[in-house]
Formats: sequence, structure tokens, C-alpha cells
Amino acid sequence: MSAGSSADADRDALKRAAAEAAVELVEDGMIVGLGTGSTAAFAVDALARRHRQGLRFLGIPTSEQTAVQAREAGIPLTSFAEHQQIDLTIDGADEVERGTLNLIKGLGGALLREKIVAAASRRLAIIVDGAKLVDRLGARTPVPVEVLAFGLEATQASLEMLGASARLRLVPTGDPFVTDSANRILDCSFGPIADPARLEERIGRVVGVVESGLFISRADPVFVADAAGVHRLDSARAHRGSPPILVVMGVSGSGKSTIAEELAARLGWSFEEGDALHPETNVAKMHAGIPLTDSDRQPWLERVAAWIDGQRAKKQPGIITCSALKRSYRQIIIGDRPEVRLVYLRGDRDLIAQRLAGRKGHFMQTSLLRSQIDTLEEPGPEEDPLTVDVEPPASQVAETIIRLLGTSATTSQSVATPRRIE
Ligand code: 5RP
Repeated sequence: MSAGSSADADRDALKRAAAEAAVELVEDGMIVGLGTGSTAAFAVDALARRHRQGLRFLGIPTSEQTAVQAREAGIPLTSFAEHQQIDLTIDGADEVERGTLNLIKGLGGALLREKIVAAASRRLAIIVDGAKLVDRLGARTPVPVEVLAFGLEATQASLEMLGASARLRLVPTGDPFVTDSANRILDCSFGPIADPARLEERIGRVVGVVESGLFISRADPVFVADAAGVHRLDSARAHRGSPPILVVMGVSGSGKSTIAEELAARLGWSFEEGDALHPETNVAKMHAGIPLTDSDRQPWLERVAAWIDGQRAKKQPGIITCSALKRSYRQIIIGDRPEVRLVYLRGDRDLIAQRLAGRKGHFMQTSLLRSQIDTLEEPGPEEDPLTVDVEPPASQVAETIIRLLGTSATTSQSVATPRRIE
């Protein structure tokens, strides 16, 4: 075996191992979305084997190619005409972002049907080999964008206005690649993408675009196979409520707003400045250097809770700042809302006092810091906070939070060791 084919065999063994782990999620009676690509093909093989062993399920393929493979393997298929709700979809991806589990998909050309199937699925299990895990989407892979053939050049120009270099995908004969829905694909290289959710929205607004290959907050779980075995990454949604809402807490001057804004930009989640929800009377008191009482804070905390409930009702992730100094305050804003995660910004008192002294145009008086520190009840382990030190620059603190969110919100467990294909 040549070095190249041995490496391919190793990679296939990883793909197969990830696929086998995901197929374990399929239960009797399920409607299963069947993904597209070389990794998803291993899942279709494994599903066919389980079908022969007696597991009953119906498949909805994400491409003509997968439909052919599934039919030949004897998997019974159904369609959206019969079933609009899919229990579980198993699909590959081109890149998976650590922590957020956001994806780039579509190098295989099936992104439109894949997204329709993913959107109709209760769960989207993603299967990849370790080479596809990245810190930032877009550094290595372009974002495939499915566009109408009509007006292609105008659509391409509009996508380039968003900062991409957009190339028409071609087949080896030099003709344009044509999707299952008779569209074209523009592979758009943006470089590392700071805010994939925002980019997905912006691409979606371009006239002529049918769909992009950015899959935001959809994957859950992701099975990653590497030499050490298959690791399962579960999204925050699996362990807590779905989707997650972060309450960034700490005393005044700990950097809540700057860090929360940085997080919001990176994760693409909505942001609310908790201080903006204070009633006028509270702002006036703080301006005058008068500490707020529990009853002053009550209506404010209720407004913070209302914002959180608004996000929950819309099923949107979000980030809100709130000093949330006492346990009883946190009880009001978090209570039994499983989606909410505390991010506690802990800092040295002198450092915070120094930062506060340098801050202009804010109603919080430096003199109030002492009262805030005296009031603060640090969150205990039962509140399961993500605690971070605020000494490093805000961008670094945000990075740490995303990493912590990734390792606690994405639990990594070994589920299998890949078998080498001979
Ligand atoms: C097809 C896809 C594929 O899932 C993706 O391209 C990964 O493919 P492979 O498993 O062959 O690397 O999104 O549209």
C-alpha cells in the first residue's frame, strides 16, 4: 500500500468509527435524515446493516447520491410529503468550530437539502475526523453558497461586497457544478470568520442566494474520531436548556460590558446591557453615589429576567450583563431557567478600582465599588458558574470563556476506538 492510500485508509477508518458511534443513536421507529459525503456514506452503510438486523426506521436522504446509496443498501425511504418532522439526522461537515459546534458544510454540494433536513430535525448528529475541528470557521475552507443560475454574476459581485473571494464551482470538464436543485455553487473564501451567525444572516440577505453552508447552533452532538478514539461533543443545549443564555456578572469595573460585547460578537448571540434596564430612580441614586437597596434592585432584576424570558420565548441564545451580586438576586434572574449560565468575572480589588477610576461618562461612582464588594456573594459551585480572571485583555478573557463553555458545555467522552480498514 502506498503512503497516500495508507493515509486515506486511516482517515476512512476514522470516518467509519465516527459514523458507527452516531448510528447508535438511532432507535426503533425513527425518521432518520441521511447526510451526504464520504463520512455520511459510512453512516448509511452502518444504518443498512442495522436495518438488516431488524431495526425499523425510515430515511430521508439529503441528496440524489445518498438516495441511490440508501435504496441499493435496502434502507426504506420516505419524504417530507409523509413526514415533516425528522427525529435524527446524521451528516458530515467540512469544519466544526470548537466550543460553539457551528459548522461549514457543502463542499459535497448538498448544502441546501442538508439544511432543509437539518432544520426539520430534532437532532443533527455530525460525524467528522479530527482534522475538521477548528478554532475559527473559514480559515481553511470556503463557505459554499448555493445560488440561482439566473443573475449569477450579480450575486457573485454582491457576495464579494461582503468581503469574500467568490469562485464558481466547476466540475472537471470545466462546466459549472449543478446542484440537485439545479442551482450553482459559489465557494466564498472569507478567511477566519469572527461572527459566523452574523455572516450567515448577511449572506442570506443577498438577492439570488438560496442558502449558505454556515450551520449555526444546529449540531448536537458531534462525533469526532482521531487516533485516540471517538469523542462525543455535546452542545450546551444538550445539558442545559436550549439555546444557552449567559449572564455575565461581577462588580462594577470588572469589565462586564466589554467582555460580553466581545463574546456576543464572536458567538453571534444577542447582547443586552443589563445596566440599561435600571429604572431612572436607580440611575439617579447611583449618580448621587447612593448604594441601591434590595428593593431598589427588585424591578431591575425583574426586567433582566424578562429579557432572558424573551430570548427563551424566541428560542434565541443571548448574553446579558448584570452585577447579580447576591444569591437571592441570581435566584430572580436565573431561578429554574435551565438555559441560563452564570459567567463570573473575578478580579483583584485594586485592579478593578483602578479601571473604574479611569472610566468616563458612566453613572456608577467609584465610591460605590466598596459597597458592591461588600454586597457581593461570590457564586458557589452549586450555581455552576464559569469563573474567569479579568486581569488579561478582554479579548483573551472572552477567548477563555468560549473555551470553558466549550469544555463544560461540550462534554468530550471517548465512545470508541477507530478500527483500521484493511
Ligand atoms: C456535503 C457536505 C458534507 O457533509 C461535507 O462536505 C463533508 O464531506 P466528507 O465527509 O466527504 O468530507 O456538507 O454537502
